[in-house]
Amino acid sequence: MSKKTFIFVVTTVVMSFFAAAVLFAGTTVQDTFKMESKEYKTRKYNSATLTHKKHVEEYKANCGECHHDANGKPLNDIKTGENVQKCIECHKIPSRKPKKKKGEPKLTDEQRRAYHAEALHDNCKVCHKVFNKKVKKETGKKGKAPTSCNKCHPGGKIK
Ligand code: HEC
Ligand code: HEC
Ligand code: HEC
Ligand code: HEC
Repeated sequence: MSKKTFIFVVTTVVMSFFAAAVLFAGTTVQDTFKMESKEYKTRKYNSATLTHKKHVEEYKANCGECHHDANGKPLNDIKTGENVQKCIECHKIPSRKPKKKKGEPKLTDEQRRAYHAEALHDNCKVCHKVFNKKVKKETGKKGKAPTSCNKCHPGGKIK
């Protein structure tokens, strides 16, 4: 075997290891997808779409601005093949928080974020608000990151 062929074979073997690792659930992600967690039994709004790749590449969001570990610590350098958990594995209740009844104590932020949609809204909307504020300050124009219901949920409420 020539040196060139040897390097080729080694590279192919190494690359197929990575490819195999990526095939396991939770380690790959589509460039763009509808946020439609299957755990929801009912849905009130048309589903939001996340341009995952664009958020990373164009909007320069770090993995750790959305993904974190069981202590909420940002996962900034997720490696190829690593299992990335779905938000609902920890923010477990598939809905928004229930309406507060009279006399009931207010939920803490953490209790509120046990509801999946609250955790997602906190994540998506907080960053969008901060971004738009920065754009406004720097350019005087309105930023384009969506913060209103119908901008994320196209068509708003399901009729
Ligand atoms: C803007 C927020 C955001 C950023 C930035 C981001 N992700 Fe994600 N990612 C998500 C959301 C939301 C999901 C869908 C999770 C769900 O359905 O619960 C997801 C899903 C994934 C999944 C699939 C998980 C599964 O079980 O299906 C992988 C893998 C992943 N992301 C890796 C990464 C890596 C690596 C980076 C950094 C290069 C990154 N993400 C950056 C928000 C983000
Ligand atoms: C392994 C468990 C786990 C996973 C998976 C997970 N979270 Fe969390 N998350 C936590 C914990 C623990 C905290 C800290 C308690 C709290 O503030 O709610 C937290 C906090 C948060 C916060 C508040 C952070 C802050 O700085 O104020 C947001 C927003 C959030 N998670 C959204 C998400 C989103 C979106 C996903 C999926 C892309 C996700 N989480 C996946 C466990 C998890
Ligand atoms: C770390 C910051 C950050 C987080 C977190 C984030 N976004 Fe964004 N998002 C942006 C920025 C920046 C833009 C681009 C605004 C522009 O076009 O200039 C954007 C734009 C968008 C747009 C309109 C353009 C497009 O690419 O579709 C949608 C829809 C959107 N985000 C959905 C979401 C959803 C859903 C989540 C939560 C799962 C989320 N984003 C979380 C930063 C963020
Ligand atoms: C930045 C984008 C964004 C904005 C703005 C936003 N949402 Fe959401 N919303 C989401 C995402 C992402 C989910 C999680 C859906 C999933 O994973 O299945 C969600 C989930 C929900 C759910 C639970 C699923 C359902 O359809 O019953 C409701 C209700 C909801 N949002 C209502 C609202 C309302 C009302 C507003 C305005 C006050 C709003 N959202 C603004 C992104 C957004």
